[in-house]
Amino acid sequence: MRLVPWQPDDLLRRLDDVVTVYGEAMGYRTELLQTRRGYIGAHVRRPGFRSVATLSTEGALAGFGYGYTSGPGQWWHDQVRAALPSDSREQWLSDCFEVVELHVKPAAQGHGVGARQLRALLAMADGRTVLLSTPEADEQRSRAWRLYRRFGFVDVLRDFMFPGDERAFAILGRELPLAERPVDAPGIVGI
Ligand SMILES: CC(C)(COP(=O)(O)OP(=O)(O)OC[C@H]1O[C@@H](n2cnc3c(N)ncnc32)[C@H](O)[C@@H]1OP(=O)(O)O)[C@@H](O)C(=O)NCCC(=O)NCCS
Repeated sequence: MRLVPWQPDDLLRRLDDVVTVYGEAMGYRTELLQTRRGYIGAHVRRPGFRSVATLSTEGALAGFGYGYTSGPGQWWHDQVRAALPSDSREQWLSDCFEVVELHVKPAAQGHGVGARQLRALLAMADGRTVLLSTPEADEQRSRAWRLYRRFGFVDVLRDFMFPGDERAFAILGRELPLAERPVDAPGIVGI
């Protein structure tokens, strides 16, 4: 497996694979994936776009992650801004990188791929803070939650309902940059 930075066109060239990995990782229905495909295609042009991918030795896509500078006029940004108390808006949203997607194919999960992707993405990101949303879950039992907590993400909003989605989400955040030293589980090298 190798981790590579992706330019916008690299992601667009592999958009079918990106949507497949996304669908497998999240367990989403095909109809929903077609809508996501359109969004992802547009996201690559947003300011501050950064992306990473994990490829097998044969070049198959095992995982990917991307984000961009969070700003007014973006649906996610505006939803989160409206829900935050006014003193938190400046703190979290004034110079913020949003991690929009971070996924690893189920067969490749549990080997540190997600952690390496997140570390690389945050090392490339512009901004003083980073925010992301993740479905509410049992923190101990969810791999995504364990990963974000290991990276020092704290609660920004909990049980948040985005319009049109019946699941509750948490908005998690931390300051950038990451520490030089790995913040991941002790003893794990190469992240
Ligand atoms: C969440 C997700 C991106 C994490 O990616 P991952 O590659 O599975 O996760 P990690 O990098 O943390 O690796 C998992 C475990 O391997 C361990 N690990 C880390 N580096 C390792 C290494 N080099 N060798 C062996 N194990 C390692 C970690 O400690 C971690 O243990 P834990 O889950 O018990 O905490 C991935 O599981 C996924 O796509 N899930 C479904 C979609 C999803 O929830 N996405 C995020 C939604 S916002």
